[in-house]
Amino acid sequence: MERLGRKHMPWRLSVVLSCIMLFGIGFVGDNLWRSSTPMSSLHPFFELPTAIQSAVGLGKKSKIKNKLDHMAPPKYLNATFADLEAPHLEWEEMPSAPALRLDGAAVQIKNLLYVFAGYGTIDYVHSHVDIFNFTDNKWCDRFDMPKEMANSHLGMAADGRYVYAVTGQHGPQCRVPTARCFVLDTETKKWHDLPSLPAPRYAPATQLWRGRLHVMGGSKENRYTPGLDHWSLAVKDGKPLEQEWQTEISIPRGGPHRSCVVAKDQLFIIGGQEGDFMAKPGSPIFKCSRRREVVYGDVYMLDDGKKWKELPPMPKPNSHIEFSWVVVNDSIIVIGGTTQKYPMTKKMILVGEVFQFHLNTLKWSVIGRMPFRMKTTLAGFWNGWLYFTSGQRDRGPHDPSPGKVVGSVWRTKLRL
Ligand SMILES: *[C@@H]1O[C@H](CO)[C@@H](O)[C@H](O)[C@H]1NC(C)=O
Ligand SMILES: *[C@@H]1O[C@H](CO)[C@@H](O)[C@H](O)[C@H]1NC(C)=O
Ligand SMILES: *[C@@H]1O[C@H](CO)[C@@H](O)[C@H](O)[C@H]1NC(C)=O
Repeated sequence: MERLGRKHMPWRLSVVLSCIMLFGIGFVGDNLWRSSTPMSSLHPFFELPTAIQSAVGLGKKSKIKNKLDHMAPPKYLNATFADLEAPHLEWEEMPSAPALRLDGAAVQIKNLLYVFAGYGTIDYVHSHVDIFNFTDNKWCDRFDMPKEMANSHLGMAADGRYVYAVTGQHGPQCRVPTARCFVLDTETKKWHDLPSLPAPRYAPATQLWRGRLHVMGGSKENRYTPGLDHWSLAVKDGKPLEQEWQTEISIPRGGPHRSCVVAKDQLFIIGGQEGDFMAKPGSPIFKCSRRREVVYGDVYMLDDGKKWKELPPMPKPNSHIEFSWVVVNDSIIVIGGTTQKYPMTKKMILVGEVFQFHLNTLKWSVIGRMPFRMKTTLAGFWNGWLYFTSGQRDRGPHDPSPGKVVGSVWRTKLRL
């Protein structure tokens, strides 16, 4: 970027050209990634990378930079965007994960949290599993995933021993999805094939319910268009009981990044969004570029497996919560996520609340706040403690837009 200092060009023209350029790339990858690839997280009006600032003769403390600081989201955001009132929770930090992860997947089996895949950086994806032991609060094991298995945006569910991992994105940036599905036997750490989904999806709602593995919604092959399809496969002890996925009643609203939870023998779908980043047309590396997204707080229950029943929505629209929930004592607890983009800045707004959905009354409440706002959090619950790890955190208490990808682990004692 140093070469941007165009010696033969008038300074003003150079600044104008640079701004036009920034405007162009600003729409690429905004907010998807911040920690290791600053170039892909530019927003035209908010961040000039230091290299470009110096190239156009601006220091870090320049007037433009100061002006940009003032344009950061204000501390007061209206109710759709503001943090909700929440009781205080004490959090305790645990040993960090061996790898940073965004858009990973997780399941809890007894006292172990299995954490799969995810972006390490926007250009590097993981193809392994890390395991956290809730008994001694240590990361205790690591093993590889099949190379053909998706590296992010997976659907995943577990039954106490077997982990079913379906479809998702294969490779970094905004690459194409795979329809391949796998099952892991956590006792032997062996992987086996499952029949491929009829069509690949990004981040579909996935859960085991009454002996069948259900896969619903997600984004279609272009990563953007919401899929409404709903398929299921009979499975038992890690084996498919059918050759093919069956078509089930489609869901009222498609799209990726929802919580999908079975509790009290009912299947719930919570939150999510329509639309997502897409590969830039013609980009050989499938470079992620931002598209319009609409976030929802809708809750649906698969009543009797035959029709969808709409239940009271979350206290705010919330997405990127596919593995950010636990079931405790007749409640679903959902932590973190992302809500609607802030209309003034078009920036993604992260969520820091801990929500409780009371299964007996079907009411929502806010029971606390995380140590920071965070999306694609991987959650677990053990012995009274609510845990979370991994994902992308905010940029600070007064800036709810996406900041660093972190691997830290936190826990709080839950009293419902
Ligand atoms: C907050 O502002 C947005 C955009 O102006 C608007 O759509 C939304 O309804 C507002 N929310 C509330 C609770 O007033
Ligand atoms: C988890 O930690 C407990 C306590 O240290 C230990 O007994 C157990 O073997 C550990 N489990 C695994 C899978 O490492
Ligand atoms: C769940 O219910 C049990 C039995 O009533 C109670 O002992 C426990 O504290 C509850 N758990 C939480 C997290 O509130």
